[in-house]
Amino acid sequence: MNRLVVTKRLLRFSTSSASCSRLGRMMMSSSVDGGSEEKKMVSSYWGISRPKIAREDGTQWPWNCFMPWETYRADLSIDLSKHHVPKTFTDKVAYRTVKLLRIPTDLFFKRRYGCRAMMLETVAAVPGMVGGMLLHLKSLRRFQHSGGWIKALLEEAENERMHLMTMVELVQPKWYERLLVLTVQGVFFNAFFVLYMLSPKVAHRVVGYLEEEAIHSYTEYLKDIEDGKIENVPAPAIAKDYWRLPKDSTLKDVITVIRADEAHHRDVNHFASDIQFQGKDLSEAPAPIGYH
Ligand SMILES: [Fe+2]
Ligand SMILES: [Fe+2]
Repeated sequence: MNRLVVTKRLLRFSTSSASCSRLGRMMMSSSVDGGSEEKKMVSSYWGISRPKIAREDGTQWPWNCFMPWETYRADLSIDLSKHHVPKTFTDKVAYRTVKLLRIPTDLFFKRRYGCRAMMLETVAAVPGMVGGMLLHLKSLRRFQHSGGWIKALLEEAENERMHLMTMVELVQPKWYERLLVLTVQGVFFNAFFVLYMLSPKVAHRVVGYLEEEAIHSYTEYLKDIEDGKIENVPAPAIAKDYWRLPKDSTLKDVITVIRADEAHHRDVNHFASDIQFQGKDLSEAPAPIGYH
């Protein structure tokens, strides 16, 4: 196989939605069997070889999309019931908007929580990226630090994307669901972008409420697993590495840690909104970087 073909294959892997796990598997298999693809990738004129990376138990690190130092143990002690009571007019609008968005979601997915979670994660990973990008541009325009908020919001986007990479290992989207993702992303990205430009404090409040709904959905998901309505299958390999879960972890463990992540996102976004409701700039309050 010539170098061009290998490069094209790698590009295809790195740009597909499930690139994380597939590239991970490819890297693992090529390193295990000494396959030629990895050697050719390294021998590219511009190629930068990856140093040998291992898990704590010494086995080869199979993922290219996240590294061992980016993994963590979810803080399961977080209060899941916290709620921001809407008091101001804009808070009430944000709250009602999220409650309204829930209606079509409930009607479409009903109790198909795997599918529902997978689809919602495609939306959940958007606000952090939009907010992070706009704060990045603001920092450049004003020659000012962001107080760590760019990093915190991009971390959130990445964390949500890892939720999606985990869910696609459990649920395979059908063609019409992929079509729905395309449509929803097109609408939601632009709507959220405009909202963040107009009022970042309302945008963060909306996300705070979306995260409260995510906690509720994952709690219902867990109930169905506990009641035996959804099979408690073994946890995907990517989830075990990302959340440092034990080898015998199951779907229930994965949903539990994802729900804890959502509770952290809820806190970060309500906090970001509160700062701005008090008439301050986000950069005036240190961002909760690495808050999991
Ligand atoms: Fe999520
Ligand atoms: Fe979230």
